[in-house]
Parts: sequence; structure tokens; C-alpha cells
Amino acid sequence: MDLYLIHWPVEGQFKDAWRALETLYEEGKAKVIGVSNFQLHHLEELMKDAKIKPMVNQVEYHPRLSQKEVQAFCQKHDIQLEAWSPLMLGELLGNAELQEIANRYNKSVAQVILRWDLQNGVVTIPKSTKAHRIAENADVFNFEFTSEDMKQINKLNQDQRIGPDPDNFDFS
Ligand SMILES: NC(=O)c1ccc[n+]([C@@H]2O[C@H](COP(=O)([O-])OP(=O)(O)OC[C@H]3O[C@@H](n4cnc5c(N)ncnc54)[C@H](OP(=O)(O)O)[C@@H]3O)[C@@H](O)[C@H]2O)c1
Repeated sequence: MDLYLIHWPVEGQFKDAWRALETLYEEGKAKVIGVSNFQLHHLEELMKDAKIKPMVNQVEYHPRLSQKEVQAFCQKHDIQLEAWSPLMLGELLGNAELQEIANRYNKSVAQVILRWDLQNGVVTIPKSTKAHRIAENADVFNFEFTSEDMKQINKLNQDQRIGPDPDNFDFS
């Protein structure tokens, strides 16, 4: 397997799950192992006695939820941050400020968001059922934002989730 993640940090269970992933990695069955929806305290707890530290943390990440603390921790510990729902399930596509930036670069709002991910060092996994949008979402390697543009997009953060909060999730 190329990448194997623990989907959610279930208290009292994620350490056992991690030991299983470590075994798969050591046996060469998973090339990369990681976690998803881990907050900073989950990562710290896991890393206390992990043999192998997580290589990826896949979290909800978009301009309304830029996860600064988690991102800084992941950068420090060489854990690749990965963005799920990077387009906020389409909710951000009508944002006027992003549209203004998109107009200046002759790009779509989706492309602006995905380029912002990349320039922040975040791997991004937008989903579309439409071939032309899949192509559009991949066409983000031929332009670059200035630091001023990046700051303008960073300012959109409101710590606003569209998906469940990992600290208040019903795992039953
Ligand atoms: N680890 C986790 O807990 C977790 C949680 C949620 C999601 N995920 C993963 O994250 C990935 C993506 O997230 P997501 O599907 O939740 O959200 P998303 O990628 O932010 O948004 C998908 C929505 O945006 C639309 N869209 C995509 N590209 C577009 C474009 N260029 N222009 C206009 N609309 C566009 C899609 O519609 P059309 O299909 O009509 O284009 C779809 O309605 C998925 O692979 C999902 O499995 C992981």
C-alpha cells in the first residue's frame, strides 16, 4: 500500500492502531503510514511512545480553517500536512476576495485555493466527479502568489469547520 492512515483519533485506541501500522510499515506492506484528523495533543500523545512517527496528517484545511498550530507542529516534526475538503465542499468558491485574486491571475477560485495550499507546503486532495474540473484542479503549477497575496488569503481564516471536530466526534 502506498499510504495507510488512521482515519480518526479514537481515544484509548489510536495507540494500538498505530502499533499495527508500524508493523505493516516494518513488514514493507505500507510504504507510508500516517494519521488523519489528529490535533496537536493527539500527535504529542502518539509520539510519546511511537517507534515510528507519523509521516502524514490529513486534516480539514482551507482558507477558513488554516490550522496554524497543527501545521507548525507538523512542519517541525517533518510530518506532511494534507488537506481534506480543501474547497470547503465548494462553499468557498463564491468568496468575493478569492474571486478578486482569481481575476488578477486569470485563474478560477478553486485554483487559487489549491495553489495557496501548495505554497503553504500542504498536499491537497480536491475531489470532483467532472473530468474538466479534475483537469482544472491539477492546473496550478504555472503561476505563483506574491507574499502579499498569500497574506490576504491567510487573513480569511476563521477557525471554521465544515466537517466534524476531532475533539468532539461521536465514534459510536
Ligand atoms: N480524512 C477525512 O476524515 C476526510 C474527511 C472528508 C473528506 N476527505 C477526503 O477529502 C477529499 C476531498 O474532499 P471533499 O470531497 O470532502 O471536498 P472538496 O474537494 O473541498 O469539495 C468537493 C466539492 O467541490 C466541487 N468541486 C471540485 N472541484 C471544483 C472546481 N474546480 N470548481 C467547482 N467545484 C468543484 C465538487 O463538485 P463536482 O463533483 O460536481 O465537481 C464537490 O461538490 C475526498 O477524497 C475525501 O474522501 C477526507
